[in-house]
Amino acid sequence: MNHPQEAHMSGRTKYLLDEDSMPTQWYNLLADLPVAPPPPLHPGTNEPIGPDDLAPLFPQALIAQEVTEQRHVDIPGPVLDVYRLWRPSPLFRARRLERALDTPARIYYKYEGVSPVGSHKPNTSVPQAHYNAEDGVRRLTTETGAGQWGSALAFACASFGVDCEVWQVRASYDQKPYRRLMMETYGADVHPSPSKETAAGRAILEEHPESTGSLGIAISEAVEQAAADDTTRYALGSVLNHVLLHQTVIGEEALRQFDMAEDTPDLLVGCTGGGSNFGGLAFPFLREKLAGRMSPVIRAVEPAACPTLTRGRYTYDFGDTAGLTPLLKMHTLGHDFIPDPIHAGGLRYHGMSPLISHLYEQGLIEAREIAQQDCFAAGVRFARTEGIIPAPEPTHALAACVEEALRCRESGEEKVILTALCGHAHLDLPAYGAYLSGAVRDNALSEEDLARSLAEVPHLG
Ligand SMILES: Cc1ncc(COP(=O)(O)O)c(C=O)c1O
Repeated sequence: MNHPQEAHMSGRTKYLLDEDSMPTQWYNLLADLPVAPPPPLHPGTNEPIGPDDLAPLFPQALIAQEVTEQRHVDIPGPVLDVYRLWRPSPLFRARRLERALDTPARIYYKYEGVSPVGSHKPNTSVPQAHYNAEDGVRRLTTETGAGQWGSALAFACASFGVDCEVWQVRASYDQKPYRRLMMETYGADVHPSPSKETAAGRAILEEHPESTGSLGIAISEAVEQAAADDTTRYALGSVLNHVLLHQTVIGEEALRQFDMAEDTPDLLVGCTGGGSNFGGLAFPFLREKLAGRMSPVIRAVEPAACPTLTRGRYTYDFGDTAGLTPLLKMHTLGHDFIPDPIHAGGLRYHGMSPLISHLYEQGLIEAREIAQQDCFAAGVRFARTEGIIPAPEPTHALAACVEEALRCRESGEEKVILTALCGHAHLDLPAYGAYLSGAVRDNALSEEDLARSLAEVPHLG
């Protein structure tokens, strides 16, 4: 008979890479796509934009990365130095969750909450601050929804001696005072959005004095400030190609960790706000799939209150509410869409990364929507088995993961599931408080509201 202890020693829980196995290159999916995604357009001419159109907002190195067809891009030494503060991040096998679900599925999660700010966002804020500092930029502006991206940029700016100014969506500013304090501790200035600091913010406040804000409005405010000053530029936390490129360190590490585990995923799941943690994990696996070396299903999960991929229209739209950005071909709910103030602030964006939207159109990824209460139920289940309290955003991925694992319980299938656990909830605990007290509601987007905001999408002639 086995010693009782042995029942608990059923295999490895963490797959850890050494610092010197950290990837030194990002992976560019554009190099391997069978069909290229449609280009961004200039809103005045409807012609594809050129590098000069983006120069007021981004440094040359990032503009080049936005369009490069190079398969791999070297990660600069100063960026690797900062990455080493928390990378490589662990890959976990969720053995305790598997047992609780009584599933034959093998569940793995790649945990990005080990970064100083608690999410995947510094994977791109650090290189963005680095390239701007190299270019002599003195100040970066940005928006933040969950507060995760704002803290990540504030931390990165502190690392490279650049000032940082953040417009935090009003709903999140009120729900998450500690995120603001975190940004201020790193030295950033933080405004609630809409704010009186910008023309875009003042216009919204005039019409809707009680506006809870949106990422689209906050982007307008940050872009307006950056465009008005030569020494200031703008940093975006998701959506664009260069952001997704930087996030591929997640997937590159995970591939190496799966080699250690001698396993191969059958299903990847990640939550999508603008698409960066999902793309960061998925793209290196998609490269392997396109090359015929594995064949995982890749599934994006979004909130029922902001169902961009599943119910949005695939068309050219602005990235922000005021219409200051180039037109991006993407799944959109309409650039003036104000999502319900659900707790997953990072998933409340009207659009989806053009690259992720394109993959969806090409049938290379799947998508589904899940309502808030099911997500929190999965988050609580995960916390009570694995210990980590997931940020409200990745509870969407976990809900899809639990659903699949329970399906495997019925079918007996030993499916290998990999999920992106892109952040922890230490500063989002009021959201869990609301759920535990029964105050969280499911507010699916109505057809009328969707039709109203889609009516504002520009018509290209
Ligand atoms: C923890 C966390 N997860 C996910 C997201 C969504 O962004 P993305 O889809 O770019 O990963 C955010 C955005 O703020 C976030 O903070």
